[in-house]
Amino acid sequence: MRLAGKVAIVTGAASGMGKAMARAYVREGASVVIADLNREGADAVAEELNGSAAAERCASAFALDVRDRERAQAVVDHAVATFGGVDILVNNAGVITIQPFLEITEVDWDHAFDINCKGLLWGSQAAARQMIAQGRGGKIINLASQAGRRGEGLVLTYCASKAAVISMTQSMALALAEHKINVNAIAPGVVDTPAWEQGRSPARGAAGAAGR
Ligand SMILES: NC(=O)c1ccc[n+]([C@@H]2O[C@H](COP(=O)([O-])OP(=O)(O)OC[C@H]3O[C@@H](n4cnc5c(N)ncnc54)[C@H](O)[C@@H]3O)[C@@H](O)[C@H]2O)c1
Repeated sequence: MRLAGKVAIVTGAASGMGKAMARAYVREGASVVIADLNREGADAVAEELNGSAAAERCASAFALDVRDRERAQAVVDHAVATFGGVDILVNNAGVITIQPFLEITEVDWDHAFDINCKGLLWGSQAAARQMIAQGRGGKIINLASQAGRRGEGLVLTYCASKAAVISMTQSMALALAEHKINVNAIAPGVVDTPAWEQGRSPARGAAGAAGR
């Protein structure tokens, strides 16, 4: 119960690593907002967690498109109204697109950067404002990737967006240190999640994770 009394928002928590992190937070005593574009999936995760924990209600689902700046503020407001504040933000929502270099379109580029980078910025600003107002610091954890530390022939937009996540993490850490807000990134290697099944180009008709 190392996180008893803490409130976390995990984006993209309806699936994969986000779901696993939400489960781990609840096991450690935190309350968690399950924020995802996939509302049904978020509801299912919240239901599972509320059934499992000793606390009366430890999880709450929220429909979030991280690209929408107003919704980024709304999810923070939801955490405050439901659980009393925000101590941890995990910027986990992200998309992988696998495609040949010569076929990358503007839609593909925007898809990767809008979700993986712009969404991370809006969420972090909203959470940081709340953490600063609370005056007790906080944690922001960004999902980067090993792909952000090297290039790969078939995933240029993904590699570039995750390199940007590493850079954004460093800038955010410096900007928020004075408020005792600690900003880190995790850079996993390949993890077997549904992300890989959905890693097709949105420009070629496949929805990808963000289209669900
Ligand atoms: N799986 C891997 O091998 C791997 C490796 C390194 C880093 N990562 C990163 O880890 C994070 C989680 O990946 P995963 O493998 O668990 O993916 P996943 O596809 O299982 O889950 C991603 C979740 O993000 C949600 N999502 C997508 N677009 C969204 C949006 N616009 N707004 C809100 N939610 C949105 C999806 O609905 C989904 O529930 C991602 O940032 C990914 O880039 C994954």
